[in-house]
Amino acid sequence: MKVRPFQHPSLSQSGPTVVMILEHSKPVDSLQKRGIRLATVPQVRGLPMSQDAKYNSHSKLNCVIGCLQAEQAGADEGLMLDPHGFVNTTNACNFFIVRKGEVWTSTGDYCMNGVTRQNIINLCRDNGIPVYEKNFSLVEAYGADEAFLTGTFGAQTPVSEIDGKPIGENGGRGPVLEKLQKLYADLVARNTR
Ligand SMILES: Cc1ncc(COP(=O)(O)O)c(C=O)c1O
Repeated sequence: MKVRPFQHPSLSQSGPTVVMILEHSKPVDSLQKRGIRLATVPQVRGLPMSQDAKYNSHSKLNCVIGCLQAEQAGADEGLMLDPHGFVNTTNACNFFIVRKGEVWTSTGDYCMNGVTRQNIINLCRDNGIPVYEKNFSLVEAYGADEAFLTGTFGAQTPVSEIDGKPIGENGGRGPVLEKLQKLYADLVARNTR
């Protein structure tokens, strides 16, 4: 509750309003088969001195605009670039590609460094799968053998197309994603006994 409608926190008369939404939802199974369709959106992930994208803050406007732009382009989710034009992340998940057996994701400088993103990187390292956090271009993403999103809710979801271009031979899926999904399921089972 604010005494006047301006930004300074000293104008707040009481503490934050905490809202908890308790719901049980399950990822849509069909997305594992059909895969997610991404569209590159004009909205980019910004520099940390405007808003550090590493914070999972309540200020989601940047992601929401990216999400709406993807919807207008007829896609399920927006693929966002960084300020230099390298592929960064999607509006709600972290993004990975597989090329010639190597797993690539962005440097992590302009995206939320999600828990699932880090678990996948760790699983690759622990299981001899080459993994790189690096800059890569949209053309390299279009030409990937496999591509997938990570997030706590959906775990790993294949990306079947980007900007209308099909990914790989099998809707974004392939042997590396399959192996990582098994390793991740084992990790979850070990930690939820
Ligand atoms: C912008 C963004 N990127 C990525 C993620 C995935 O993070 P995690 O793997 O921790 O669920 C989230 C989830 O909240 C997110 O909001």
